[in-house]
Amino acid sequence: MSKVLIVYGSSTGNTQSIAEKVGEQIRAAGHEVDVKDAADVSPKNLMEGYDAGLFGCSAWGEEDLEMQDDFLPLFEAFDQVGLSGHKVAAFASGDQSYPHFCGAVDAIESLAKELGATVITEGLKMEGDANANPDAVASFAQDVIKNL
Ligand SMILES: Cc1cc2nc3c(=O)[nH]c(=O)nc-3n(C[C@H](O)[C@H](O)[C@H](O)COP(=O)(O)O)c2cc1C
Repeated sequence: MSKVLIVYGSSTGNTQSIAEKVGEQIRAAGHEVDVKDAADVSPKNLMEGYDAGLFGCSAWGEEDLEMQDDFLPLFEAFDQVGLSGHKVAAFASGDQSYPHFCGAVDAIESLAKELGATVITEGLKMEGDANANPDAVASFAQDVIKNL
């Protein structure tokens, strides 16, 4: 059994719904899962006691990538989270009409790798909430579970 932390930044609830659904599925596979809003966490040693961290964040920029407001402070202090040696995956809800579709996923993966984490599966990028594409959500959760 692994202990998994899921942290999301979500303004209209779409990424939050993905976080909750993925959390349910990982829990159903027998793992211990905490799902937290980025607004409620503090970066320092956030990963302590966890084997894996899943990070979800929507994007709000027009030309440039802008991370969701609650997630930004966490992302800016990602080096304090204690990611080194941990398993990480990223997810987001976004809109394909923007230049950086679910751009936070790439930003999280890239920085997590730089900080010594292992990205265990391709990030989930989708439009709408978890109900908009349950198959994509389930497939992402299964990939995570396989690699825990
Ligand atoms: C001003 C504005 C900028 C946005 N920028 C992006 C973007 O850069 N990339 C993207 O994929 N979606 C972008 N979106 C779409 C939202 O990220 C999308 O609606 C998402 O589902 C919101 O997720 P949340 O409810 O978890 O915050 C933008 C939306 C607005 C209104």
